[in-house]
Amino acid sequence: MYQILIGFLKWAGFLALGYFLYLVYALLVYPYMCWRKYKKYSNVYTTPTFIPILGDLKRINEDMKKGRVHYYEKMQKASEMKGKDIRIKFEGYNPLILLQSNKAIEEFAKLVPSKVDRVNTGRGLGKVGLGTFLFEKSTKRTVMRRKILTSFLSLNSSSRHIPAMMRHTSDVLKPLKQGQSYDFIDIANVLTFNIFTSVLFGDDMVELANRVRPYQNPDGTTSMLPLRDIIINSFKSHFVQIFHPLTATCKPLADANIINPFKRDHENYQVFLEGMKELYKNCKDETSICMQILKNEQTTESEKMSDLNTFILAGAETSSHGIVSTLFFLKKHPETFAKLRKEIQDARINKETVTNESLTREKIEELDYLSCVIKESLRIDGPGAESFFYSAKQNIKLCGVPIPKGFPIKVDLFSGHYNEEYWKDPTNFVPERYDQESEFYKQAEKEGKIGRGFSTRPFSHGFRACPGQSFAVLEMKVAIIVILTLIDYEVDPELFQKDGVGFGIGSTIVPSFKVDWQS
Ligand code: HEM
Repeated sequence: MYQILIGFLKWAGFLALGYFLYLVYALLVYPYMCWRKYKKYSNVYTTPTFIPILGDLKRINEDMKKGRVHYYEKMQKASEMKGKDIRIKFEGYNPLILLQSNKAIEEFAKLVPSKVDRVNTGRGLGKVGLGTFLFEKSTKRTVMRRKILTSFLSLNSSSRHIPAMMRHTSDVLKPLKQGQSYDFIDIANVLTFNIFTSVLFGDDMVELANRVRPYQNPDGTTSMLPLRDIIINSFKSHFVQIFHPLTATCKPLADANIINPFKRDHENYQVFLEGMKELYKNCKDETSICMQILKNEQTTESEKMSDLNTFILAGAETSSHGIVSTLFFLKKHPETFAKLRKEIQDARINKETVTNESLTREKIEELDYLSCVIKESLRIDGPGAESFFYSAKQNIKLCGVPIPKGFPIKVDLFSGHYNEEYWKDPTNFVPERYDQESEFYKQAEKEGKIGRGFSTRPFSHGFRACPGQSFAVLEMKVAIIVILTLIDYEVDPELFQKDGVGFGIGSTIVPSFKVDWQS
């Protein structure tokens, strides 16, 4: 008996030692070897010194502790990216390639999906997206499902929803009280989720989507929340899972969802899925996207459900952050705000247009300055800082840099937006940079800095780029028109003084805006 025990302890000791050595390799040796390997390439940016375990996350965490947005360091480092095609980012256990230059993105786009493809790392948001095609490889089926979804998102199809976009924007504003301050991310989230519910399932389903359901909080209490807040919180907590020690050290245990926070996050997400199923089952609106998806004979029942989830997961929170950034930068630049408001008024868009929902696509397309404002807002503070994960399907080279099979790759969206080689005064909010008649544009053109081609990246590039751009831009335009027609607002002045303010997804800065109803 004694000998069996000794034998068992010996084996357990060997196993523990083996696992410890594996962790040392995965968390320290492998990232360090990558750092050394890529340091040799003059067109690759690596941090001057190797930062063990946390890697680049150390700087990100420090910025967030100072109340700055998590992608602040991308803006700061943009000038260091001159002449760099690629950057190696270290998230501790997870070295990855971030594509910086236009050349790197151009080469990458040609390789997707034959030699480089979307990959599900199974970490964080990858767990939320299970079943959707968002994080799946480009197989025949995912490509077909992407095509079906894209067909609902063209400018023509999206324009059908302008009345719903107007209605839900003005409905969200109605309860706001004169002179009171609100967190506008909350407001914009209600707005975009209601629009999506209406477009996907019909207006009569908005109430059901807003019905509260149980959500388990980290402190053990339960809150009753609408589906919108359940998925937003779920997103946030799954994102935090990426930094949980178990995700790095024992992923199978994290994936099994048997201990907290993984168990709790999993159960909360199931509540969201059940809620979506209820909307799907109760949908009766023949014109809704849900009904059209239901009629499609090419997809299975579970794919149909997942594809409806894809809309919400990919489309709702992204647009709301875009709307808030636009409102913030407009107020930070009063002359831009006044110019845009005048353009809207000169087009005879007023409270009546909004109340009668009589805004047309043609009318919106007349508003050239609004287009410039939205483009500039998506450049200076777009909803996403990086694309989803890709990986090389075989050993490849990008800009002469070898990338081994399976190495994670992402497109760096923001670094291109802040690159002085592509843009004149990139850190300034100047919508005129898109107006060919303006002095700013003419000067930028002379300097060769009007942000051609791949320098504009809010929706990423290549075969798996965002298919929802037309819908998103139209929705942002309608929301801004309705908001600027019905209310004025004051931004918390402290936000204008602070460095590193931004409202992309993941930002923890609260956009507190005081409402002033227009008489
Ligand atoms: C301003 C709002 C939006 C922004 C900035 C945005 C941006 C992005 C980005 C950067 C990606 C990743 C592309 C890549 O990995 O290369 C993406 C993917 C995607 N977006 Fe958007 N998006 C927005 C709104 C929308 C909307 C309204 C929809 C509509 C449902 C949508 C649907 C999708 C889908 C389905 C994907 C995955 C595409 C694929 O995997 O093939 N997005 N989006």
